[in-house]
Amino acid sequence: MALRSQLGLVPAYHFSEKPCSIKLDQNESPFDLPEDLELELFDRLKKVALNRYPELSAHTLRQHLANYLGWSAEGIVISGGSNVLIQALIIAAGLGQQVLTVKPSFSVYGLEANILGADFIELPLGENFSLPKAALVSALKKGKGVFFLANPAAPTANLFSQEDIIELAEAAKDNWIMVIDEAYHQFSATDYSFLIKGFPQLICLRTFSKAFGLAGARLGYALMQEALAEQIQKTILPFSVSGLQLTIGEFMLEHPKLTEKNLGLILLERERMAQAFKAFKNITVFPSQTNFFLFRVKDAEGLYNGMLKHNICIRRQDHLPMLEGCLRVSVGKPEENDAFLSALTSLLG
Ligand SMILES: Cc1ncc(COP(=O)(O)O)c(C=O)c1O
Repeated sequence: MALRSQLGLVPAYHFSEKPCSIKLDQNESPFDLPEDLELELFDRLKKVALNRYPELSAHTLRQHLANYLGWSAEGIVISGGSNVLIQALIIAAGLGQQVLTVKPSFSVYGLEANILGADFIELPLGENFSLPKAALVSALKKGKGVFFLANPAAPTANLFSQEDIIELAEAAKDNWIMVIDEAYHQFSATDYSFLIKGFPQLICLRTFSKAFGLAGARLGYALMQEALAEQIQKTILPFSVSGLQLTIGEFMLEHPKLTEKNLGLILLERERMAQAFKAFKNITVFPSQTNFFLFRVKDAEGLYNGMLKHNICIRRQDHLPMLEGCLRVSVGKPEENDAFLSALTSLLG
């Protein structure tokens, strides 16, 4: 067979879709566009010429993002979801070299590294999900490739400190592209892109799927120095972000108040849930700097199935290293969180 042998050895990305009315399993935003804006957007989408190729490298959306973030448009690379950029960055710096991350972490880093045949190294987090700094520094000093660090972290929901990130960026400086995956950064009010000025090999990876509420549109971007962006852009397939995706992204950036309002609601609900969790003596909840909670129970499978019976879908994480008995739940709309909390009371209370 012509297929590369390692492809057969890599398991497919696993996600089992359940038909639940309350969907709290993918760290999405619970807020779709309000109807008036949806109609306005549809009008805009009608004007996209479907017989024409879209812009080659998304310059209009890059310019919108540049204005929104106070960044240079030439230092931005856009893709159809940040997952695509993860793959592109491995092609750029991991192929034939190394892909380094911590464990547990976002599964796509390892998945893509293994599919592409890069040397994948994952170093276990320490106590309380702290960074294994000495081991990381030693791996960074020895090897070469691309280093992914989700911050805030997923699925552990914690935030690593600025001092630690700087120490790692220093160690990575000669032989690594270091990627801070900031998929959840709005929920922790952090933004480490200011470090890029001093570290030409540093990249901040972002998504429209979480705080912007556009998981269905598939858009991601990365911030970096202009010279690096010129190289990374080559690894994104020509015309691979459609005119429809680009228009949706531009539209969202024209309505920053909506994103801000939805973010504010999620942060309030996160606090309310954190307080409500305290009433359950048989649950360990880990602090969250994201739009989801990781928590531990005695019987993760039982609680997961019990939630399904209440028409609520959450995510099992108990198969992951260090996460025995753990489940993950997204912060949803107030009524969804109420339903989750009341199901929790009836199943565990
Ligand atoms: C840490 C992290 N990075 C990246 C992504 C992927 O985002 P996208 O929808 O932009 O591909 C996710 C999605 O859950 C994530 O948790």
